[in-house]
Amino acid sequence: SQRVKIPPGTKKLPGPMPYPVIGNLLSLSKNPHLSLTRMSETYGDVFQIQIGTKPVLVLSGLETLKQALIRQGDEFAGRPDLFTFRMVGDGQSMTFSSDSGEVWRARRRLAQNALKTFATSPSPTSSSSCLVEENIITEAEYLVKKFMQLIDEKGEFDPYRYVVVSVANIICGMCFGKRYNHDDEELLNVVNLTDEFGAAAASGNPADFIPILQYLPSSSMKAFKEINRKFIDFMQKFATEHYKTFDKNHIRDITDSLIQHSQEKRVDENSNVQLSNQKIVNIVNDLFGAGFDTITTALSWSLMYLVAHPNIQEKIQDELDRVIGKERRPRLSDRAQLPYTEAFIFEMFRHSSFMPFTIPHCTTKDTVLNGYFIPKGICVLVNQWQVNHDPNLWKDPSKFYPERFLNTDGTMVNKTEMEKVMVFGLGKRRCVGEAIGRMEVFLFLTTMLQQMQFFKQDGEKLDMSPQYGLTMKHKRCHVTAKLRFPLLTTD
Ligand code: HEM
Repeated sequence: SQRVKIPPGTKKLPGPMPYPVIGNLLSLSKNPHLSLTRMSETYGDVFQIQIGTKPVLVLSGLETLKQALIRQGDEFAGRPDLFTFRMVGDGQSMTFSSDSGEVWRARRRLAQNALKTFATSPSPTSSSSCLVEENIITEAEYLVKKFMQLIDEKGEFDPYRYVVVSVANIICGMCFGKRYNHDDEELLNVVNLTDEFGAAAASGNPADFIPILQYLPSSSMKAFKEINRKFIDFMQKFATEHYKTFDKNHIRDITDSLIQHSQEKRVDENSNVQLSNQKIVNIVNDLFGAGFDTITTALSWSLMYLVAHPNIQEKIQDELDRVIGKERRPRLSDRAQLPYTEAFIFEMFRHSSFMPFTIPHCTTKDTVLNGYFIPKGICVLVNQWQVNHDPNLWKDPSKFYPERFLNTDGTMVNKTEMEKVMVFGLGKRRCVGEAIGRMEVFLFLTTMLQQMQFFKQDGEKLDMSPQYGLTMKHKRCHVTAKLRFPLLTTD
């Protein structure tokens, strides 16, 4: 791979000199998003590093990402065949497997349709809301009660521990029609696995690039295998139950709708591939897997920023009081009237950049980007963190400042600013759960903030340094809170 023939008229990829065997591994450091951002200042938007003996393309810069992922979308839509990715979902994952042709396209469309039907379509029982809106509000309401109970009992709590169950309940409801209690061991066993998942599936894991590491005993790899096993067992149980009780006249959830697809062999009109039943039904694994860790992480970062910046928390609460009042709960339809709250959410996504890279891509054929020759099959890291902290795009990028997303009179979010934030990827592989993700973050946050004020505990120092991974987390942190006014009785 080191001696790629460069076609005439194209340039050779720049990048740092690799060492033998390890390549540029040492330069990646503990925070690859930061070291690769620094390298982009030297080598530009398109450069190559070597991890172990494998070349890896690193993309930065908003315009370059748009060029690669949108305008040259097909050429950059692949997924590399990585050691860790082969362990996810028995290698059958729509998200992580190296399928990128017709099979992936057909499965991705099924995932998008299932989400549309079970998440964003109007509720049959209520004229003003979509199916999951009700569920989110109920779950958020429950969370407020749970937090207050914990305050009464202990005076403090670790929000992450409870938010993860509430968020998992939403996706569990959509996928399997099931809600869990906050103390349910079965669910806690599964949702508490995500830290290790994120560490192993992170961009630039040496085990993916240095084959010998795959044969050495490693506790983190063992944990990663176990996590994937537990995940599959958890889902398999639901699939079995659903097959047993399936009734084609009564489609209950995403699992049912996928079973229906597989039984009718209703092939997508836009494609002529035949998918196996397994490849249809286990799409639900991808949705469940992606559907709680990301949103929990977003909400957890939000609470950290609110506790770190009490004045910002107060501004959101003033806006909620002014627009919604205390008599009713926030709804999705309030979003347009709450620009400051929206601006806060965008700033949380930008500043934390908790998914510093997209999931790695790979090229599907030889191509040229910004004049550089890019070979087929090269692993591509897309640096979202770099875009969100690029001083050419943002004034004072390291400052947490929601107002940067508001128009000068403060009455509306500024669309051009919003569109510069990279969190869900771009183009063909763009996140399929973006609408649900944004919906949940908004509704959970506003429901909590309308009723509760969050504080850090006296004397506790907030440690907001992110732990590198597929999704970056802050250290677990106990906070305290008080009710802003007596709880409304909603039942
Ligand atoms: C992919 C972010 C929520 C389902 C992705 C990617 C990112 C992302 C960065 C990778 C894009 C790429 O590789 O270029 C997020 C964030 C979320 C979120 C920040 C919440 C705040 C969700 C939810 C679901 C979901 C709720 C499902 C219900 C998926 C799937 C993929 C994906 C299936 C893989 C798509 C493919 O490979 O074709 N997401 N996501 N995500 N996301 Fe999300």
